[in-house]
Amino acid sequence: MVDLTVKIGGLTLANPVMPGSGTFSESMASVIDINRLGAIVTKTITPDIRHGNPQPRVTEVTGAMLSSIGIPSKGPDHYLAEILPFYAPYRPPVVASISAGSAEAFAGLAACLSVPGVAAIEANISCPNLEADGRAFAMVASDTEKVLRRIKSATSLPIWAKLTPNVGDITVIARAAEAGGADALIVANALLAMAINVETFRPRLGGIMGGLTGAAVKPVILRMVYQCARAVKLPVIGCGGIFTVEDAVEYMLAGATAVQVGTANFIHPTTTIDIIDALPKFLARHGLVAAERLIGAVRVDDAADPLWATAG
Ligand SMILES: Cc1cc2nc3c(=O)[nH]c(=O)nc-3n(C[C@H](O)[C@H](O)[C@H](O)COP(=O)(O)O)c2cc1C
Repeated sequence: MVDLTVKIGGLTLANPVMPGSGTFSESMASVIDINRLGAIVTKTITPDIRHGNPQPRVTEVTGAMLSSIGIPSKGPDHYLAEILPFYAPYRPPVVASISAGSAEAFAGLAACLSVPGVAAIEANISCPNLEADGRAFAMVASDTEKVLRRIKSATSLPIWAKLTPNVGDITVIARAAEAGGADALIVANALLAMAINVETFRPRLGGIMGGLTGAAVKPVILRMVYQCARAVKLPVIGCGGIFTVEDAVEYMLAGATAVQVGTANFIHPTTTIDIIDALPKFLARHGLVAAERLIGAVRVDDAADPLWATAG
């Protein structure tokens, strides 16, 4: 028997695999056994009803997906009335992903969703701070700390902070999130990117720029997970380009305690379950009795382990 459980900020998950916010919905219940997931992470909800960005919202690029969805949201009332009751009969903890344009609005939403049936709040701080210049909260260390402090004061639930990879030094942001009271980090949201249709000379997305996700981003985000896991004491959840059990294991070796699967859900909707099925076999093949043994187990010689390496 292999032990797949992992601990994330006060919660014990049956296994380390869960969907990434916005890539999973109630309709997945007709495709996979939701009870087998480590956790259920819901689509980001915002305080107001939002209709999302102009079309086209999704385009494919080599090895990745480029999307500019704009967080369409039906608001907290819909969430409480429809989404939470839907997940209530399922065993995995429900993680409510939230986003807002100010620290106050983030806190208000966290308080509103701190109800039975929600096990943790995932703060998607990769969204624009409307009280500053519109840069994402998680692009600025002081904004990161401030918003997390404010959310922390509004809820007693664990807070998972979802960072953006669109920064120079993600360890500075990770430390700010830890100082602000985050219980775990998700590394990371989508990479800011762009594509242009050379026949029409127009951007391929209605939102002009969008988020790059999928296989091509994995080495970049993996590097960030490695750096963050060494910079903070918090558990790190790796998210970026995970399609297979080997991808999930790679993230855990880099220091992730758990993983989130995003784009792969659109291509192979059973990816999360396939990884959960394959993980015990992988562990057994390596003589490991517990998934936790993978966390940070990458073998690196101290001398060859700089905090920063040149990219060239
Ligand atoms: C279509 C789409 C919608 C997404 N919606 C959200 C969202 O609502 N909230 C959020 O925090 N992340 C959202 N994400 C980001 C994913 O949760 C994940 O962080 C990202 O896709 C990287 O993982 P991947 O490479 O496995 O896709 C979305 C991603 C995609 C592709």
